[in-house]
Amino acid sequence: MLTAIKEVPNWSPSSWSERTALQQPQYDDVAALDARLHELKSLPPLVTSWEIMQLRQELADAADGKRFLLQGGDCAENFSDCNSPHIANRLKVLLQMSLVLVHGLKQPIVRVGRFAGQYAKPRSADMETRDGVTLPSYRGDLVNGPEFTPESRRPDPARLIEGHSRSAMTMNFVRALIDGGFADLHHPEYWDLDWVKHSPFEREYRDMVRSIGDAVRFMESVGGAPIGSLRRVDFYTSHEALLLHYEEALTRQVPRQWGWFNLSTHFPWIGMRTAALDGAHTEYFRGIRNPVGVKIGPSVTAEQLIRLIERLNPDNEPGRLTLIHRLGAGKIAEHLPRLIDVVRNNGKRVLWCCDPMHGNTEGTASGLKTRRFENIRSELEQAFDIHAASGSRLGGAHLELTGENVTECMGGARDLTEHDLQRAYHSTVDPRLNYEQAIELAMVIVRKQGARISESAGS
Ligand code: PEP
Ligand code: CO
Repeated sequence: MLTAIKEVPNWSPSSWSERTALQQPQYDDVAALDARLHELKSLPPLVTSWEIMQLRQELADAADGKRFLLQGGDCAENFSDCNSPHIANRLKVLLQMSLVLVHGLKQPIVRVGRFAGQYAKPRSADMETRDGVTLPSYRGDLVNGPEFTPESRRPDPARLIEGHSRSAMTMNFVRALIDGGFADLHHPEYWDLDWVKHSPFEREYRDMVRSIGDAVRFMESVGGAPIGSLRRVDFYTSHEALLLHYEEALTRQVPRQWGWFNLSTHFPWIGMRTAALDGAHTEYFRGIRNPVGVKIGPSVTAEQLIRLIERLNPDNEPGRLTLIHRLGAGKIAEHLPRLIDVVRNNGKRVLWCCDPMHGNTEGTASGLKTRRFENIRSELEQAFDIHAASGSRLGGAHLELTGENVTECMGGARDLTEHDLQRAYHSTVDPRLNYEQAIELAMVIVRKQGARISESAGS
């Protein structure tokens, strides 16, 4: 069958450059930037168009209530964390969470990492001043370095190539690990679950884990194949497509498909700060065929939201658009119902996903950024309830987490306090859930949503 030739009107991979592009670095050597971008355009892509189309279908299924999206990873990856233990631990926590979710929600999980390219960050100010010295803000390893020195903070185009290489290395290792299977995924009894004894739900959680183990062993004995032998591309990547020069260089045409694909990641998203209707990011995103996400905060109006949806998904195609709401535990009840109403009343097809992290960031007296587990949990639980009460469905969760034992978010079963934050705070940007808090949150989702599923099955 011949693929119909279609085009997105008045669009090209570089048409974004005629619009206002927020959050872009100022490179002082334009010739060096051009040379690096030229090089980047000739390097191989990181993902393929058929993986992207498969993810689009899976996201369409999630919007229809047949799957649940788990999207998670670091706020920002660092080049120095591109190493075996870090990548393996992060993949492991996501896989373990997804096993908890598959079991509890009785649905396939769409697993999407915030990795293999999550190297550029929006910042609230262009410049940072310390002790009377003013330097450009750190914008992620794809742009400059976090150290507060003029050399490190200078945006360096060579980092574009380094970012592509580190993303490719991460992707390669993730694919290899998934191909080989993680042995201890099949044995939840070997998971690091010491924290469970600090939880008021200890008994329930232990039963849950035991029953996951039983189910895995049952599947393996009946099916003959290990349940962990996930198919090759059963894990997708995503990042905030912020640095438009980089994204453009990896935007390609492929044989036997019409249009253009961003082949640096399966699932790019637009951050809240760059989602202006007439901005460069919206212009870039409207022309690529990937599924796309948009972060939505409390300030978005009904009118803005509908126009954004129409701009990004004019044909109302299933699986194309995911709205990632990040409203805050204290504001979600006020804002989410109106957002759901406007989408429904206009007949728009979207996948709803809750990011319970970015509306719940706060500062400590000692100047650290943190989040309270209770607020994260509360926003997520409210999101499930509000969607259900509005006849909608929450189809995914977007989380900042790591497989390491960091102390960046407070609370959780071990009840980390402000004092604990000093111990293992490694994030250069936002605070992440640690291994234990991440698994606990997966169990929270199951307690919340699983109960609803059992109720409706029994009624
Ligand atoms: C992020 O996801 O790290 C981020 C900056 O989010 P938002 O655009 O929602 O603020
Ligand atoms: Co963040």
